Amino acid sequence: MLLEIENVLSAEALTRFHEVLARAPWADGRATAGYQSALAKNNHQLPEDCEASRMLGGEILDALNSNLIFQSAALPARIFPPLFNRYGPGQAFAAHVDNAMRLSAQTQERIRTDLSATLFLSEPDTYDGGELVIDGNFGAQSVKLKAGDMILYPSTSLHGVNAVTRGARVAAVFWVQSLVRDDACRDMLFDLDMSIQRLRADVEDAHPSLITLTGVYHNLVRRWGAP
Ligand code: NI
Repeated sequence: MLLEIENVLSAEALTRFHEVLARAPWADGRATAGYQSALAKNNHQLPEDCEASRMLGGEILDALNSNLIFQSAALPARIFPPLFNRYGPGQAFAAHVDNAMRLSAQTQERIRTDLSATLFLSEPDTYDGGELVIDGNFGAQSVKLKAGDMILYPSTSLHGVNAVTRGARVAAVFWVQSLVRDDACRDMLFDLDMSIQRLRADVEDAHPSLITLTGVYHNLVRRWGAP
């Protein structure tokens, strides 16, 4: 599933992010790429353990913790601390598949990448190009979101970033190891959870079918979930 999640960061948070990022120590993005993706990647990135990465990454993790749509869709067991990247004119990231495992320099944790996420930090009218293109079951999807909005997609997907031709595209990217590894199972749980939430708004909380459906949801998470 390709899922857009709006307003992960507020306008006030974005202003603060841009102030910090303007004076952050940007470096060649190939530092964190695997062998194959180093050939495909041309961008700038913040070192994982610099102060700006830690501070802003921490703010994003806090925002994700309280984002009910993200929690329901990703069912996160572990989250790789966000990386910050910037593409200027002529910079791009050709089609690639993300590494299956990533070792966090911050936490020394090894994380299996089940889901990839891009949180857009630049307003789309401030740059041309820079679309995230994701190959999925329904063909290639081109994604360019408002600043503060995020796209979540399976890490098994072939994806890349089109060349920027004007301005700068700044984004945060991170990966999720999910409690539910299988995409199809996770997608069904998300549909079930969202349907239960909508029903809860329409019928009284104690409706016996709502209680049963909620039980089914949790029993499926127990059945399909693993750390
Ligand atoms: Ni990637």
